[in-house]
Amino acid sequence: MTKALDEIKIGGLGSSRKRVEDNRFIRGKGNYTDDIVLPGMLHMEILRSPLAHARIKSIDTSRAWDIPGVHLVLTGEMMATRNLAWMPTLSYDTQAVLATDKVRFQGQEVACVVADDPYIAKDACEAIQVEYEPLPVIVNPQQATADGAPVIRDDKENQPDNVIYNWEVGDKDGTERAFAQADKISTLSLHYPRSHPSPIECCGSIADFNRATSKLTVYMTTQAPHIIRAAVALVAELPEHMIRIISPDIGGGFGNKVPVYPGYVCSILASILLERPVKWIEDKTGNLISTGFARDVYLEGELALRNDGKILAMRMHTDADHGAFFSDAQPSKFKIGLMHSTFACYDVPVAHLTARGTYSNKAPGGVAYRCSFRVTEAMFFQERMMQQAAYDLGLDQAEFRRVNLVRDDDFPHRTPFGFLTDSGQYAKCLDVGLEAIGYQDFLRQKEEARARGRRLGIGISTMTEPLGAGNSREYDILGIKMFDSAELRVHLTGKAIVRTGARGQGQGHETTWAQIVSHELGLPADDIVVEEGDTDTAPFGMGTYASRSTPVAGAAVAMAARKVRAKARRLAAHLLEVSEEDVEWELGRFYVRSAPDHGVTIQECAMAAYSNMPDGMEPGLEASAYYDPPNLTWPFACYIVTVEVDPDTGVWDVLNVVAVDDCGVRINPMIVEGQIMGGLTEAYAMSNMQFITFDAEGNCVGSNYMDYLLPTAWETPGFELHEVVTPCPHHPIGAKGVGECAAVGGPAAYVNAVMDAIQDTGVRNIDMPVLPDRVWEALTFRRDVSGAPPVRSDG
Ligand code: CDP
Repeated sequence: MTKALDEIKIGGLGSSRKRVEDNRFIRGKGNYTDDIVLPGMLHMEILRSPLAHARIKSIDTSRAWDIPGVHLVLTGEMMATRNLAWMPTLSYDTQAVLATDKVRFQGQEVACVVADDPYIAKDACEAIQVEYEPLPVIVNPQQATADGAPVIRDDKENQPDNVIYNWEVGDKDGTERAFAQADKISTLSLHYPRSHPSPIECCGSIADFNRATSKLTVYMTTQAPHIIRAAVALVAELPEHMIRIISPDIGGGFGNKVPVYPGYVCSILASILLERPVKWIEDKTGNLISTGFARDVYLEGELALRNDGKILAMRMHTDADHGAFFSDAQPSKFKIGLMHSTFACYDVPVAHLTARGTYSNKAPGGVAYRCSFRVTEAMFFQERMMQQAAYDLGLDQAEFRRVNLVRDDDFPHRTPFGFLTDSGQYAKCLDVGLEAIGYQDFLRQKEEARARGRRLGIGISTMTEPLGAGNSREYDILGIKMFDSAELRVHLTGKAIVRTGARGQGQGHETTWAQIVSHELGLPADDIVVEEGDTDTAPFGMGTYASRSTPVAGAAVAMAARKVRAKARRLAAHLLEVSEEDVEWELGRFYVRSAPDHGVTIQECAMAAYSNMPDGMEPGLEASAYYDPPNLTWPFACYIVTVEVDPDTGVWDVLNVVAVDDCGVRINPMIVEGQIMGGLTEAYAMSNMQFITFDAEGNCVGSNYMDYLLPTAWETPGFELHEVVTPCPHHPIGAKGVGECAAVGGPAAYVNAVMDAIQDTGVRNIDMPVLPDRVWEALTFRRDVSGAPPVRSDG
């Protein structure tokens, strides 16, 4: 049997091992925050603002206090006496925990009630009387920056207007010079609408403060338990070792469960005040209306082009609407996340990006919904722009991409904004995709169909994205450097436990981390248990989001296993009675170089670590590793979609979807494919189903599952998946991140396909969601269709 087959047999790298966590999930035995019941537990509900912008004149809580079963009514004023009315955000801004002076978005937290059960708490919330004085409302950056616009954040000193930042990167003068040389300039502007991660499980927490031990335990839906512990320690000034954050099973996160939400803070304070466990479980409307949204960015840009298709330069401006508080999850140095990773897969000699962020009367936005800090917007713009530029030049869209893609022998490649991409076979991925979709055939079919009045279209999206922040030199969250860690303990019988600072939310870490250890040590994966999510037991880590787990925590697992193997080698030398230099390693076994049959298994070494170690050797077989990656990982993907658009109704149907992903070495191919299918499904939903926006009064339109549709198996198209493997040169096992690639690159493929079907109309853009009425409007009136708020609220 070959080594690779041996490894597959034990569940190592490349094995499509079934997900071990599914043993409990498919039996309904998951343990989610809402499943946890503690003795004496009380329940908390939140009163939210019905208005988007209003001064609070008074809050009368007396009727709520009178309701039997009510234990506590919290208001902003009470929070303020404890210095907790405001909290810091992940972007160095402040966010109201409970409103004091004003409400700044519809759904903002105004008060909360703790009672014997959630129904009493909800009734008591309704008994609270709040007198509001309505103020003018702002729902987009244009209004935010208009002359005389009301200042939303008048709570802040030195905030005379609604602008949060003006940021730029790149070479402005060089870009201007290149534009002056261009044969053609192609332009595009669009709005990437708000989208919502909408995990099936909403956010929630159970705070349990024990006065006797002074220990605060919080069970909560967080993707980053250690960051939450640090935030609680710093904000509430509680000693860090007396705080235990436990993140039990999570029913989907997608970025929604990275920020600190007011509900968490209030449940903690309530538990401290009442000395009883306090549970807060957000409802669906609360989740859709108030927790971290993503995107909501206006993008405009242009490409300087030569007639033969070569891109000479790119310039771009983004206007991001952050809502009432700047709470983006982002590596702090870059105001607009990693937007400047745009065009990283193309050889663009020079570029310039400007970014402006503004406040509005909308829930705070900018969480990384299945996205590495704004790369979704970056890649969406890039790929929509590439298609438009190909049309403007009269070139084939695939050929135009091929001319400009970074070539295999150009790596390492420095992008115009300073990133270093280090590996890939971009043209090969494109070729595999074109072959799989039957590109030339489809173009012929499209022509024939057009002659008969039918509209077919094909959309391509090729992209690389930066996954795996840090390195710690360049990436930090609130000053905490981005790295990750793992601990591996091998017990005396050769069974093992791995703990990491990451926290999966369905991605399968319990399965794949064991596979990495199997690969490194030759232990069967079934002999390895994985634990994440408890700050009292897991080593420090920055959490799981932005597909950083495999690039960083996964690498830490491999490094910890290598340390264990190094110690096991010394134990093997002792057992084999040879010097360490004479010991060779093969999967699961050390042997004497000159006598390969004379060997010991890794399990025998484990037993020796506790029962027969050499004199002077510390007993035990365990190691921890902190991993600070030298670079981001840069997976590549090519997504191709074909559609048919009905010219009479604007309805469009997906005909085929082909995905070619290169995420380096695949730990578990089945899990990787699941991640890609999930991403393509979400991309499909974002591109044509999910509608959430705001009217002129700041009412959130679509904050329900009648409008904000979750795709089911019924409407989701089928996917054909292909792979190309270019190992990551710096990752210990050659893996790159993959979790979000399809959600990042997918939307442009769907939208490009629809735009291709109506290209002859001269329409340059229809904003997502590309709903049938928008397509119909574009076809009928031959004009671009914007989806930017405000929308009409009269139906
Ligand atoms: O950070 P997150 O877990 O969301 O994303 P990821 O690191 O891209 O991993 C998603 C899932 O795919 C995990 O279970 C990974 O271990 C797995 N994966 C893999 O099997 N091979 C890769 N090259 C990348 C990810």
